[in-house]
Amino acid sequence: MQHPPRTGEIVPAVAPTGRRSHLIDFEHYRELYARSIRDPEGFWAEQAESLSWFFKWVNVLDSSFPEGDVGWFSGGRLNVSFNCVDRHLATRSEQAAIIWEADEPGQHRVITYRELKHEVCRIANTLKSAGVMKGDRVVLYMPMIPEVAYTMLACARIGAVHSVVFAGFSAESLRDRIVDCGAKVLVTANEGLRGGRPIPLKAIADKAIQGLHQVHTVFVAKRTEADVPMVSGRDQWLHEAMERERRVCPTEWMAAEDPLFILYTSGSTGKPKGLMHTQAGYLLHASLTHKYIFDYQPGEIYACVADVGWITGHSYIVYGPLCNGATTVMFESTPLYPDPGRYWEVVERLKINVFYTAPTAIRAIAREGDEWVKKYDRSSLRVLGTVGEPINPESWKWYHGVVGEGRCPVVDTWWQTETGGIMISPLAHITDMKPGSATLPFFGVDPVVVDEQGVVQKGNGVSGRLCLRQPWPGMARTVFSDHRRYQDTYYTTYAGYYFTGDGCRRDEDGYYWITGRVDDVINVSGHRIGTAEVESALVANPLVAESAVVGVPHEIKGTGIFAFVVLNREAEGMRPQELEGVLKEEVRKDIGPFAAPDWFLFVEGLPKTRSGKIMRRILRKIGEHEYQELGNLTTLADPGVVDKIIEAHKDLVARN
Ligand code: PRX
Repeated sequence: MQHPPRTGEIVPAVAPTGRRSHLIDFEHYRELYARSIRDPEGFWAEQAESLSWFFKWVNVLDSSFPEGDVGWFSGGRLNVSFNCVDRHLATRSEQAAIIWEADEPGQHRVITYRELKHEVCRIANTLKSAGVMKGDRVVLYMPMIPEVAYTMLACARIGAVHSVVFAGFSAESLRDRIVDCGAKVLVTANEGLRGGRPIPLKAIADKAIQGLHQVHTVFVAKRTEADVPMVSGRDQWLHEAMERERRVCPTEWMAAEDPLFILYTSGSTGKPKGLMHTQAGYLLHASLTHKYIFDYQPGEIYACVADVGWITGHSYIVYGPLCNGATTVMFESTPLYPDPGRYWEVVERLKINVFYTAPTAIRAIAREGDEWVKKYDRSSLRVLGTVGEPINPESWKWYHGVVGEGRCPVVDTWWQTETGGIMISPLAHITDMKPGSATLPFFGVDPVVVDEQGVVQKGNGVSGRLCLRQPWPGMARTVFSDHRRYQDTYYTTYAGYYFTGDGCRRDEDGYYWITGRVDDVINVSGHRIGTAEVESALVANPLVAESAVVGVPHEIKGTGIFAFVVLNREAEGMRPQELEGVLKEEVRKDIGPFAAPDWFLFVEGLPKTRSGKIMRRILRKIGEHEYQELGNLTTLADPGVVDKIIEAHKDLVARN
């Protein structure tokens, strides 16, 4: 069936080549979707047959969703590593499971499913020899090398809970996460390599665990030839430890609701939360979305160029594709190394069919000119995807028109660390698209738009805040060791609903347009950062009395970080440039280089209400040069402060 007529700019689902999805058509999507909302248990029980179980479940769903207590497939037992590796051996042992594209241009390595099984088992046995048992947490602080995927799957195999920490985080951030999850074993590498530059991961890891006796073993993967100091009795080269182990390792029979991994993510307040995902529901959501949204077909080469340190890497480099027996590409480098043609050179060389990246990367490459794309043969490409932040229609059209030559659907996938998998997105070759819209919900996803007071906005042509009304299998189940915080963060803002923190519009056709965060979380180049974290890093420096951080539109990053800073006496006589250098370094040290503010403004005071609350809304407007649209200022303790900030901002703009 054709789509019903739609409004606005529409790009038809069926490509000019006439290509359709090999799975379903749009009418079938609508039927399945309606069923998934009407009868979620029936729908998900059918879908769960796609996984391999040791025992089937007894209850499909056990839910007190409004309180944030949800379990899927209880009574069932399975193993995620078995599903992602072993079960494919009978039919695809010689097929590439992972193609590792190294930082050095032109170099890649193919790992077959048979090899994957051997490597995963040897690492699983290595972890066991180090005393890791079911339920123990293992922290991974690793570059984008195959060992990171092996180690994740090895943990899953023996029932250990991995927590991958993005390799751009500082020693302090790494330490906080190790302490919070109580890991005794850390897996890292001597160095990482990105854009030709070495990253001293082992040195950072050493600093992170200095004096921290809870960590008794550190495994070090060898990515470069660099020699690093090894602490005797604690540190071991991973490859040497693996050589001692068998390539066979039994799989633990995990309960559907046993934890699979913890992934830390930033929120509006406090330290990052360790979101906990469980086994069966997560795997089902990751694999089903991978199949339907990318229209993945057996034998195809699929590349998600995210980092495994974020949820996108977990769900769409490792678990989703491997569960589906796909060939998944792991990309170690950056889109600009050695030049802005890197992605497309890789697409040509590896004959990639499905390519998934972030708007920030698209913007960075697009501005370098079309010739970098056109130089390479992209005829293998069939589906393009984007994730991490809203994509502006211009970038969408460039991606679709220039990269995909108008042939390839662009799936703009909206989701979060908390959701585990994609929630709102077109299905490739099935859903008509609109540039800039994430379009329609995936099976089982029941979005609701509410106003600030929580009143549900019915019908189409409405905007407000995005909530979800029904549990879905991939949802995070809790915050590690703090269930109350999980409930408070997601289920209390709007009673009865999960609150996403995002603003959105549902247009006349029921299409969703995500407008970005409405809380104090900012999305910098797709990296999620809490303004409170940056502020606390800044005030940790004795030069700073107070600070307020807001997100302001940035040409490449989507959102940039703007820090308003009130200085202490100690800063007197220092030049602004010098101060900026010191404060950026402070944030790099506390969080990581990606969180360093893009702009600083040194001010005498911050706009506060009489009860002392900083009015960030005003600062955001000033950062966006919208001096006339500051809204109601009558609640300010000292309205004069705003004029002074505006003057200082104008000065700053004039100077640059
Ligand atoms: O604001 C939304 C934005 O990224 C946030 C989630 O960030 P994180 O947990 O780090 O996960 C990123 C990868 C899934 C969301 O609350 N976001 C993600 N995808 C989109 C998006 N905003 C608009 N459109 C998207 N496609």
